[in-house]
Formats: sequence, C-alpha cells, structure tokens
Amino acid sequence: MADHIPKEFLELVLQRIDLVALIDARVPLRKKTGNNYFACCPFHQEKTASFSVSHSKQFYYCFGCGAHGNAIDFLMNYDRLRFPEAVETLAKQIGMAVPHSKTSEKALSFQHLYTTLDEAAAFYHAQLRQAPKAFAYIKQRGISEEIIRTFRLGYAPRGDTLLQTLGKTEEARKALQETGILNQKDTRFYDRFHERIIFPIDDRRGRCVGFGGRVMDNSEPKYLNSPETPLFQKGHELYGLHQALQVNRQLPRLLIVEGYMDMISLFQYGITYAAATLGTATTAYQVQSLFRYTSEIVFCFDGDNAGRRAAWRALQVILPIVPDHVQFRFLFLPDNEDPDSLVRREGKIAFEKRVTEAQTLSQYLFQTLMTDIDLSTVDGKTRYINAALEHIKHLPEGIFKNALLTDLRQKTRTDISLSVEKQSVVSTRPKTSSNRSSLLRYALSLLIQFPDLAQHVTEPIPSGIIPGTELFNQILEIAQQKKTLSTGTLLEFFRTQPEEKWLASLAQEELSLPQNGLLSEFLGAIHKMRKQIKAHFIQKMLEKAALGSLSSEEKHELNQLIIEKE
Ligand code: UTP
Ligand code: MN
Repeated sequence: MADHIPKEFLELVLQRIDLVALIDARVPLRKKTGNNYFACCPFHQEKTASFSVSHSKQFYYCFGCGAHGNAIDFLMNYDRLRFPEAVETLAKQIGMAVPHSKTSEKALSFQHLYTTLDEAAAFYHAQLRQAPKAFAYIKQRGISEEIIRTFRLGYAPRGDTLLQTLGKTEEARKALQETGILNQKDTRFYDRFHERIIFPIDDRRGRCVGFGGRVMDNSEPKYLNSPETPLFQKGHELYGLHQALQVNRQLPRLLIVEGYMDMISLFQYGITYAAATLGTATTAYQVQSLFRYTSEIVFCFDGDNAGRRAAWRALQVILPIVPDHVQFRFLFLPDNEDPDSLVRREGKIAFEKRVTEAQTLSQYLFQTLMTDIDLSTVDGKTRYINAALEHIKHLPEGIFKNALLTDLRQKTRTDISLSVEKQSVVSTRPKTSSNRSSLLRYALSLLIQFPDLAQHVTEPIPSGIIPGTELFNQILEIAQQKKTLSTGTLLEFFRTQPEEKWLASLAQEELSLPQNGLLSEFLGAIHKMRKQIKAHFIQKMLEKAALGSLSSEEKHELNQLIIEKE
C-alpha cells in the first residue's frame, strides 16, 4: 500500500465502496452470469463485452486487454486520477476525509472507538439494575438473568448520566459522538438511546460495534439503532452471531431471523444457532460471510405478505452466490407470530421441527413460480420454464445449478438447456495433481478469490521447496489478520509490487467449481503440498544418510519425519 495514506484507511474505503455501483455510474454494466457484470471495455476499442466486474471479489478484469484492478485502479485509469486523488474521491463518496500524513496511524486505528463502545455497553448494562422500570420490562418479556448477562442487555437512563460518567474529557466526549451514542442539539448533548432498553451489537469477534435500543411503551420509533460508523455497518453485522459462535464449536445450521428479541428468545430456549439482521434486508455480504461457519442457512420470515416479499428479495440476493456446499431453506411462520412468540408458545422441539421441515431453496423457488400458472397448457409451461430460467441463470456454475435444471426438465418434461454466452474460461485446476507449482497456483487462486479460506489454515506452508510459498504465506497472513477481505482489497497490499500482475491474473481466473466444496478442495491442495515437502525433506536426508553425514540430531529428525509421514 502507498506509504503516505495509512493502509487501514485504504482498506476501510475499499471495503465500503461498491465497485459495481462505482463503475456502473460511468460505464453501464449489464448483469450476466453468476456474480459478474459485463460491459464493453472502456480501456480499449471493442464490439463484444469482455470487461467483467465481480461483485464478490470487488475486482474488474478485461479479457480483451487485461486491464484490471480494484476501485482505486478504476478511478485512476478511467477518471485519470493520481493515486491520492482517487482515494480522495472514494473517501468523499462514503463521507470520510483522507487522513494526511500528519494524522498518526494510531489515531486511525479505531481502538479508542472500540473502547468507548465497550465502556458504553458496560455502563448501560450496569444501569439496568438501577432502573426498576426497565428491569421490570425485561422480566415481563420473559428474559432470563443468564440471557441478560450473555447479551449484556442494558438500559440508557434519561438525563446526562452517560455524559457525566463517560464523557468527562473533551476527547472522550468526541469519541462518544463519533460512535453515534451522543448527539448534540445546540449546545446540549444527549444520549441517542435515552430511556431505551439496550441491545449491544457485537461483531463476529465479540467487539461491541453499535447498539439497538427499544422503547418500553408503544411510542415510535420502536427501535433505534446506532448510525453507520466506520465500525458499524448494518448490512455487514448479524446480531448474536458472536454468541452463537461462542457456544457452538460447529454450526451445522444457522437461522437468520429479523429481530433482536427473536434471536435472544431462541437462544434462551436452547436454539443457539440463530442470528438477526439489523432492521434491513439481508445482504449478500452477510450471507457470504456465513459460508465459512455453516453448511445450512435457514431464513425465517413472517407468513404475511411483507414476510413473503422479504423472502423473495432474499432469494434474489443469494442466487448469484449460492455455493454448492451450502443448503438454503425458507421458513415461513404462522400469521401473527415471530420466532420470539412462537418458541415461547410451542417450545424448542416444535420450533426445530418447523426448521427441519422448512422448504429448500429449490422447493421455494419452484413453488413460488408455480403460483397462478397452469402447467397443463403449453402456454403455462412456457411461461413457467422462462421464469425459472430467468432465476436459475443467476446461479454460479456448479452442481446445484445443474440439479435445478434437471429438476426443471423433469417437472416440465421438457428438454431445456441454459445457453450461457461463454466467457473465455480458463481453468486453473491442476492437470496432474502431482505437479507442485500448479498445486500452489491453484491454492493461491482459491485463496485470492476467497480470502476467508485463510481462517482455516493454522500454519504456513514450509517455504523454500515449492516456488511461490513465501507469497502464499504472506497472503495467508494478511487474510488471517483481517476479518473480511475482498479480493480487490487484498490486491491493494501489492500495489506497485512485482507480484501484483500475477496475482491479478489469478484473481480473475474462473475456477471450475470443486466437487467436494471449496474448503475441502483448498485444504486438500495444501495437504498435498505439505506431503510433497515432507517427502522432499525425507529424500534429501536419506541421500545425506547414505553418505553417512547425518548428525545425530538430524537422524532423530529424520525418524520423526518418517513416523509422522501419514
Ligand atoms: P419488529 O418490529 O418485528 O420487532 O422488528 P421485534 O423484533 O418483534 O421486537 P419486539 O418483539 O416488538 O420487541 C424487527 C427488527 O427490525 C428492526 C429491529 O432490528 C427489530 O429487531 N426495527 C424495527 C428497527 O430497526 N426499527 C423499528 O422501529 C422497528
Ligand atoms: Mn417480536
């Protein structure tokens, strides 16, 4: 990353900018397959669209001229800006000012904001015991002591207790304002959440990043949330996910619900694998970030019209990103019930029965499309097939997509094929799995395209034997340190470095979707490399041993290697 603008800031900007929207405003894009958008390349003359923009990777690439990069690169090349100007433009779009060299990196590290949020959560939590009315409300909602503690539920008192307690210095007060807890009206400061029950919102790692606050009567708005800050984006967080991850080593299934209270009640009743969106529609970001924790995601909706609409919207959001290894289900609740009321009324077992019996994505899709269509007529059948293909075409290539097509063929007894205009697809799958450098190349492609995979690797690959392992390990480390990283942001770390071009080409390569899932494919490649490296060491030592030049320490090492070989 360039040295004068702190890299934390570049990361922040790249994570918050949507590359598709940025480019679309300048070069109208059209949706094509899966996650990718296309246009005629703005950087060279052409008649067919070979310029592709990936939403999930936050990265563009032209198959014609090789132009590529992230949001910063695009502005540099398209608007002909210099690096700092491009960053400036992007920062402005998300309402931030670029910190200049005078601002120290420390000031940017947001640590003080995390601390402030944590102190505020503790403050509110303690206040709950001081406020009989608030405590009574919590009790009346049937929330247990244990849940109050686990979720650090709290109460924001009226008056200026918060300011008196946490905002004594000018600096502290500023931090309270920056996190959106403290608002200012004329010369007076007031607690945004005053007289509300507080639900602290933690990020995946358990750091408090914002709050939701509920009134205790029928006044409006019922819930108030923290404003979006650099630390808090509603479309990124899921309420309760941290707690769910804390109590479950494995999350075979994850339930997405709509309300704070829903999440909490389910948890209290022993359904500890739910998380709630924050009053906004489910985003691809939220769903995608779950792929590494679970293999089944169940969306929970009210059975009313609003719920049906929300479900249909969620379906559109997830179609382009459905991976083969994750199963999706849609659960519709009876009228006038939400998970909170339902689990309290019928208990864990009955509720879980609903979950396991919920419609799968394909059932939900096909059934919804079937509404009002008469399959016994040619006309109806044609409309049905077209409507279904219109959705299926958005799915990434893979087993699931093929299965849906097969299903559609059988349902309609029609021979259907989805003609997708093919891009120049390059498969990076190693031809022979024994070829070392292609294994590394393959693992590296996967890692660059799905940086979250890094979380599953515990140790770097021993370097020096397979070319490129140092680079692989370097990227592994970067990706492990950041919680969620897009390809475009990852490549920002290599701006102006010699590896950049190679990495960019790996970033755009179309990977044939692995049969047994991304993760096992990735770990499998790494495992093979480790085995090869070990075999190489053993071979070298045996050669040395044959010459009789092995020290006793080396002999011991060789023994160890051979013992643990498999
Ligand atoms: P609901 O209105 O369904 O609330 O909103 P709820 O979760 O059932 O809460 P209780 O049971 O009445 O206490 C669902 C979610 O929508 C967001 C909140 O995140 C809430 O949990 N919401 C709702 C808001 O952000 N603002 C509002 O005014 C209402
Ligand atoms: Mn409710």
